[in-house]
Amino acid sequence: MPVYEDQAALDAVERRLAKYPPLVFAGEARSLQASLARVAAGDGFVLQGGDCAESFAEFHPDKIRDTFRIMLQMAVVLTYGGAMPVVKLGRVAGQFAKPRSSAVEVVDGLELPSYRGDIINGFEFEPAARRPDPSRMLDAYHQAAATLNLLRAFSQGGYADLHEVHRWNLGFVGRVPAAERYQDLAQRIDETLQFMAACGITAATSPQIRETEFHTSHEALLLPYEQAMTRIDSTSGEWYDVSAHFLWIGDRTRQIDGAHVEFLRGVRNPIGLKCGPGLSPDDLIRLIDVLNPDDRPGRLTLITRMGADKVGSHLPPLVRRVQAEGRTVVWSCDPMHGNTVKSATGYKTRPFDRILLEVERVFDVHRAEGTHPGGIHVELTGEDVTECTGGAQAITDHALSERYHTACDPRLNASQALEMAFLVAAKLKEDRADRDRARRLAAAE
Ligand code: PEP
Ligand code: CO
Repeated sequence: MPVYEDQAALDAVERRLAKYPPLVFAGEARSLQASLARVAAGDGFVLQGGDCAESFAEFHPDKIRDTFRIMLQMAVVLTYGGAMPVVKLGRVAGQFAKPRSSAVEVVDGLELPSYRGDIINGFEFEPAARRPDPSRMLDAYHQAAATLNLLRAFSQGGYADLHEVHRWNLGFVGRVPAAERYQDLAQRIDETLQFMAACGITAATSPQIRETEFHTSHEALLLPYEQAMTRIDSTSGEWYDVSAHFLWIGDRTRQIDGAHVEFLRGVRNPIGLKCGPGLSPDDLIRLIDVLNPDDRPGRLTLITRMGADKVGSHLPPLVRRVQAEGRTVVWSCDPMHGNTVKSATGYKTRPFDRILLEVERVFDVHRAEGTHPGGIHVELTGEDVTECTGGAQAITDHALSERYHTACDPRLNASQALEMAFLVAAKLKEDRADRDRARRLAAAE
């Protein structure tokens, strides 16, 4: 937790926030939990993505649109390939607070507190900016509200209409190999829509063709903010954190006796738990006991982030133990945070092939254990940044400096994100073929 120098100012901000309207409605969080429950049962896939850290400076409608659009494109690829519903969950409209490995940053001999996300302090390397300022929570709230407003408009107002699948790709084609594959897919979807229309199934009869569901999430790190946004829902009489539909606990703040676990234990939202290589099966079960004591399906998503090298040895013991204890979870994979390296040119980066390798290995583990790989959690942007090396554009260490815009961790750009969606869709399709074969064999016996 940051230390705010002016306690009275902090108290005043918390009092104001506590009176602001909720950003989400508890009923929406419940409907997300119902979708996640289906995923936990093997029917569905979660696509969670967005910036590592949203920033005040980068706040712009085009950026929100670009993130929403790449999520839609990925979701279409996954829905088509996996033939299962895709739950779209943005790391957006509230993803402002960052846990840091080091409390201080040293540049040219000058030591200052680390940047901890725009909701806490400023990115500029100067003493005044780095001082935690509670009024930033109010700015974060307003930015989250405006972002969510646009996302709701896009989801419900026609932008997400499946008849627009081609248009989402404009500006991409020719530049990006995966875009050509996407274009083929869009063509098939068009034909399917025409066929369905001929059968009498149109947007008028099936609003799902015209509208989509999009939910928001962020790491529940800054507890004064989250607590001020926590209210009793008048419908159910339960506590909900109405700053987002879904909140997660980071790998650095998942101590069983820590404040973050204590806080999220008490709210009814669906929640996530990041599971890094330091998490033992015993500790995981203890955390599940506390976070989901009644084993409610959809309540808990385990987001594993082991790193490509460790996932083969560290994930199976967790999966086996959860299975043995009969707990219901969604298994999601964050292939970003275990694969961060420093480039030869000094940038924090992630090699795209290591990211894909972790995803593939996670699928292999779940296949071997008989569990459902229920989702991916990625840091991405809809823009053409150069932050992760590799991919079809073959971004090199030297090219990183060209468009390295992230306020925190390196993100997949739109091309890499689409490439990943195709890989995951192919994996989901293989899994489905396996299941169908097993079913046929069982039926023949
Ligand atoms: C993050 O998701 O940005 C993050 C800090 O992840 P983790 O807690 O898994 O390190
Ligand atoms: Co990150």
